[in-house]
Amino acid sequence: MSLIRERLSVILPTYNERENILPLITQLLDLGDSYEIELLIVDDDSTDGTADFVKELAQGDQRIRLIRRIGRSGLASAIKEGLLDATGSIAAVMDGDGQHDPKDVIQAVTHLRKNKLDLVLGSRFLARSSIQGLSQRRTGGSSMANRLARFSLHKNYRQLTDYMSGCLVMDLKTCLPSVFTVDVNGFKFLYEMLAVSQGQLKVGEVALNFQARKYGRSKLDMAVLWDFLISLLHTLGLRLIPRRAISFGLVGASGILVQLSATQILMSMLGLNFTKALPYAVVIAASSNYIINNALTFRTQRLTGFSLIKGLLKFLLVASLPVLANVGLATTFYSIISPNAIEAQIAGIVVVFVWNYAASSRFVWNTP
Ligand code: GDD
Ligand code: MN
Repeated sequence: MSLIRERLSVILPTYNERENILPLITQLLDLGDSYEIELLIVDDDSTDGTADFVKELAQGDQRIRLIRRIGRSGLASAIKEGLLDATGSIAAVMDGDGQHDPKDVIQAVTHLRKNKLDLVLGSRFLARSSIQGLSQRRTGGSSMANRLARFSLHKNYRQLTDYMSGCLVMDLKTCLPSVFTVDVNGFKFLYEMLAVSQGQLKVGEVALNFQARKYGRSKLDMAVLWDFLISLLHTLGLRLIPRRAISFGLVGASGILVQLSATQILMSMLGLNFTKALPYAVVIAASSNYIINNALTFRTQRLTGFSLIKGLLKFLLVASLPVLANVGLATTFYSIISPNAIEAQIAGIVVVFVWNYAASSRFVWNTP
């Protein structure tokens, strides 16, 4: 009797995991008795030599494949790329730092096939789950993010307990169409996958024993949280408004506060009158928008060093037309319609948003 082993592709995204990756690869290859294993390590230009190290391993073992990318395109995009290249009938996605246990992944695969599901996720929040190496704050943050995610997703997915999980297993045939449409500007691949599949997938869960990281640090930072906020708003807005436009809009809203407070400060502390204070306040707000957009909205094309200064000048130039329009509009509004400094400025700001977004995407950060 011949035992047919199903082909299982395991996607391991890595960014600076040189010390963590070998024990994980070894454990995964040991599963070879039950599955025909393929490992896809998707590395984003790690600075610690992860890619070269994996390449050496791949030279000695055909089951290991390295996808080496230029630059840092992010976790969700690495996962998507790995999934699109996978040749198995089942794919598993897990962290490349050893925090997910291969045993849990195998449980997920068994659950997937036994119950004819499309997708099974490893949850840190089931009764049988355990979590090590996550701070109280982080766990609290995750459960808050989970609640928001549940609210924003299709009702068929409401029973799930860990929308933020980085551990998932899927039947590639049924899931690939959703994988193709995942918008990759973020960290949270699973959330995106659930959002784009709109309740169509049969999804289950298994308990995860989330382990502490042995070496290196977590890559979850402010920018990752920002991306998740944008994902939530994107989903709540029926995914009609481009993510970058949402981000640009939120940053713009912060610019409104900067402009309003700068005017107040200039007026009350330096004794300038409104018309004198306004142009300075607008330039201060535009510069603050530029810095924040560079760090968040356009961080994959982030400008640094001299280019950062050049970019600021370009941004001010691109924005100067609307800045003039902004000043002109606000001044006219102030003198003709109502001498209310706040209303006058809001009128100016709203008019220029669309121009700014379109023009600076194109000319400052060179996105199509
Ligand atoms: N290729 C690539 N590119 N890999 C990345 C990137 C990136 O930009 N950023 C992170 N990774 C890899 C890491 O090297 C690691 O293998 C895995 O993705 C998870 O990243 P961590 O930085 O270790 O995340 P974490 O442990 O803080 O977060 C965990 O919990 C989150 C939910 O709160 C992970 O399980 C996440 O996947 C999960 O979303
Ligand atoms: Mn981790």
